[in-house]
Amino acid sequence: MAPTKEDMMEEHRVFSAVISTFNNYAHYSLAANNRRRKDVYLLAKGDQDLLDKLGYKHKLDEADKAILVNAQFLSEIVSDTKIFGLESQEEAEDFGMGAEHGQTHSHSHSQDLPHSHSHSDGPSKRHSKHRPSEFDMDKLRSTLKQLVRDWSEEGQPEREAAYKPMKDALVQHFSHVPVDARHTIKVLVPGAGLGRLAYDIAKMGYSCRGNEFSHYMLLTSYFVLNKTTEIKKHTFYPYVHSFSNAPNRQSILQAVSIPDVAPSDLPSDADFSLVAGDFEEIFGDPEATEDGDWDAIMTCFFIDTAKNIVNYLRILHRILAPGGVWINIGPLLWHWENNNTNDLSVELDLEEVKTLARTIGFEISNEATIPTTYTNNAQSMLGYVYNASFWTATKIGDPAPPRALTHIAQRDY
Ligand SMILES: C[S@@+](CC[C@H](N)C(=O)[O-])C[C@H]1O[C@@H](n2cnc3c(N)ncnc32)[C@H](O)[C@@H]1O
Repeated sequence: MAPTKEDMMEEHRVFSAVISTFNNYAHYSLAANNRRRKDVYLLAKGDQDLLDKLGYKHKLDEADKAILVNAQFLSEIVSDTKIFGLESQEEAEDFGMGAEHGQTHSHSHSQDLPHSHSHSDGPSKRHSKHRPSEFDMDKLRSTLKQLVRDWSEEGQPEREAAYKPMKDALVQHFSHVPVDARHTIKVLVPGAGLGRLAYDIAKMGYSCRGNEFSHYMLLTSYFVLNKTTEIKKHTFYPYVHSFSNAPNRQSILQAVSIPDVAPSDLPSDADFSLVAGDFEEIFGDPEATEDGDWDAIMTCFFIDTAKNIVNYLRILHRILAPGGVWINIGPLLWHWENNNTNDLSVELDLEEVKTLARTIGFEISNEATIPTTYTNNAQSMLGYVYNASFWTATKIGDPAPPRALTHIAQRDY
């Protein structure tokens, strides 16, 4: 279904808010660090002197420098907005309608970059610029940590824990396919984040398509994959924004360089692409995606992004080819639980998810629990470990016919 004018306006509004967040990063983050500085001056002189001896103010100055380095790096990421059909950052920001956006859930209907947009009948430009919220900034700071996960040497342990078992399972399932025929196997990675898992799969010779709907992720993965040719070309400071749980100064001010591999090293005949848009809108539409189109679907920390997991599993089942495999790893951190946007959210436990998958027509095997972190600062005094659930699943039958609730609708109260 072609996007309506309203869809396009909403798309541009969300995109402009993201660009504005990138552009406001330095100002916002320096102000947050300056709050620490101001608080020191509120202390009694004796206390200030003691902190001075610790070098606390010097640390704040170092944090400022790190923020400025980050700002320069982030500005490079948004220096080219052409992939979204906008010629300049100014144009991208000018599309802002000035409203705060609570969640970055864009609803692109477009399946291919670049998104087209007509200047003549585009939305009227109101110059009330978006002011990024703490929520927006948090998304941006998370993007920096996500870069560590996907594209740095420091992210290797996380990738080893989460991506490796998935890749091994893929190879295992298609072990009858010779390496030079792997391109005939079509692999889909929904919720691809910054694209490393999808990239690795393409590098292994499979035909691979990632799907992602966050503009933070899309802009950043585009920059890494298409604009970065040199290993360790970019350096930034992902952990400079919080001083909590830091064992020492180094843990806050550690520099990380990306990428650990040259993304341009993919063979020229590799079949690798990322499709922008909402998984349910793109792959839930039988006219846009044929039944049984994908030989393998790899969901990594993805299924809990569902509002309605029933619909996610139905789609996965419908688009998986007979004899194909769905490989999953992740926790059940239901993303829409306790949302403040009146969106529905179904929050099953793990047993219920597996029972539902079986009922829909999957046979689950190779079940395992894999301890793994997610965008973890290895030096922090605090670390979350997920007992992530891993499985491979094959299609055993036709799903039960969909009922009325397969359509995700916003709830009205
Ligand atoms: C927890 S992250 C995992 C990212 C990546 N798979 C990884 O393991 O690093 C979930 C990703 O799914 C994306 N996502 C969430 N809902 C989506 C949807 N409906 N369609 C496409 N992508 C979605 C998010 O933007 C985010 O990048």
